[in-house]
Amino acid sequence: MVTGAARGIGAAIAQTFARDGAKLVVVDVPQAGDALAKVANGLHGSALQLDITAPDAGERIAAHVAQVHGPDARIWAIVHNAGITRDKMLANLDEKLWGAVLQVNLAAEIAMNAVLLGDLPGGLADNARIVGIASTSGVAGNKGQTNYAASKAGVMGLVWAQAEELADRPVTVNAVAPGFIETDMTAAIPFVPREIFRRTNSLSQGGQPVDVAETIAYFCDPASGGVNGQVVRVCGQNLVGA
Ligand SMILES: NC(=O)c1ccc[n+]([C@@H]2O[C@H](COP(=O)([O-])OP(=O)(O)OC[C@H]3O[C@@H](n4cnc5c(N)ncnc54)[C@H](O)[C@@H]3O)[C@@H](O)[C@H]2O)c1
Repeated sequence: MVTGAARGIGAAIAQTFARDGAKLVVVDVPQAGDALAKVANGLHGSALQLDITAPDAGERIAAHVAQVHGPDARIWAIVHNAGITRDKMLANLDEKLWGAVLQVNLAAEIAMNAVLLGDLPGGLADNARIVGIASTSGVAGNKGQTNYAASKAGVMGLVWAQAEELADRPVTVNAVAPGFIETDMTAAIPFVPREIFRRTNSLSQGGQPVDVAETIAYFCDPASGGVNGQVVRVCGQNLVGA
């Protein structure tokens, strides 16, 4: 299960999972329905149009899994990839811009985990993998991204807390913290800072969505069950947060 899978990093995660033989459920907002359907059809998965901030998002995901994949189907891995930015200097951040970012990037993930970890048809498997997407902005902050950085630091805090909380189950909770990755989200960054991000990468290039996807595939590999409560930076040694 990959949220925000209609494009960018989410679509790359879905492709990587499909290569590894997974049955996929891809989730994105209804406005991205066409792109989502293309991803799902190309990978023989199923698409669920859902805004993850809906109060019943967890229940709707579980109902979809049970309906499409059978009443005994459980989710092996959920990747909380959907995310947004609403960048502004701190003085110009109003409640709406704080709320939107914290809701999508953090609160929705907490709410969905709470529901899907319960004993409902279509919920998470006993030995499930939960993966969050943090950011190097959450590691070190980034000018103009106080709301985003706070939400992504929250994702890391959630990983550390929840991995411990779930220690009596074979569930693992991990996250990646990408640096600058070439997607539609970062295409909106002005040229000069974009170029600086590329050049402060030790490979002298922007990261690729597949770089993030392969790290997530490793977290979700049945053989990596001993890796828990970890945040791996996928940033080509970008100095932010070093
Ligand atoms: N691109 C980067 O450099 C970078 C760096 C660090 C972290 N990240 C994180 O990686 C993740 C993916 O980023 P991306 O660059 O592919 O972004 P993107 O904007 O290209 O894609 C994000 C997807 O999430 C979906 N989405 C947004 N709000 C949603 C909601 N409420 N419900 C369901 N789906 C929703 C969007 O429709 C979109 O398809 C995000 O969490 C982002 O914060 C990206």
